[in-house]
Amino acid sequence: MDAAAHSDPNLSVVIRQQTSDDAKEIDRLMSLGFSSSHAGRNIWRLREGKVIEELCLVAETEAGHLLGSIRYWSITIAEKPSILLGPLAVDPAVRGRGIGVQLVRQSLERAMAGPWHWCFISGEPNYYLKFGFSPVTYDDVSLPAHIEEERLHMLALSSATPDEMPPKPWPVLSMIPATKEVN
Ligand SMILES: CC(C)(COP(=O)(O)OP(=O)(O)OC[C@H]1O[C@@H](n2cnc3c(N)ncnc32)[C@H](O)[C@@H]1OP(=O)(O)O)[C@@H](O)C(=O)NCCC(=O)NCCS
Repeated sequence: MDAAAHSDPNLSVVIRQQTSDDAKEIDRLMSLGFSSSHAGRNIWRLREGKVIEELCLVAETEAGHLLGSIRYWSITIAEKPSILLGPLAVDPAVRGRGIGVQLVRQSLERAMAGPWHWCFISGEPNYYLKFGFSPVTYDDVSLPAHIEEERLHMLALSSATPDEMPPKPWPVLSMIPATKEVN
């Protein structure tokens, strides 16, 4: 990131939908935010489907330097179309300035207007409560691979119909692209 953005206390940030041109910079942010073993973690078993383009946002300076990224993936929860939040990463040079919060809030606003029932996350235990997420346990959900229970959270989106859900635990599964299902 440029030194000017780092030192500017009034840093002005633009939030917009990601494009394919952002891929390299998003990779850079991810490598700053996560260890190299991140892509091998069990949460990636839920990211075998497609990203949901309209929910994937980036934060950038007015000069166009990427400062943060949030992505979402298609999953099902008890067969209901749902979304997986993350990864979320903010450049270490500008953390603690509300960029992560803006990315989560603006993307969840979009998600609330969409067809999805639930938003699921494996995330930092205390970061997501302020957005309305509730902790869940393995009594509530079943996963394709083990994730530390303290990281699991869910949020009901506008399309959720809690009264029509089957008995728990609800299976959380990745939405495999159609080409894979055919084979
Ligand atoms: C987590 C992360 C995205 C936060 O981004 P950010 O722009 O610094 O966060 P914000 O400035 O919007 O929010 C700051 C608030 O989040 C809290 N917070 C920051 N990191 C946190 C963490 N890892 N766990 C819990 N809370 C955290 C801060 O204490 C602060 O709380 P407050 O508003 O009550 O004071 C950023 O630290 C990051 O990229 N970390 C590395 C990758 C990562 O862990 N991603 C999240 C995986 S779930």
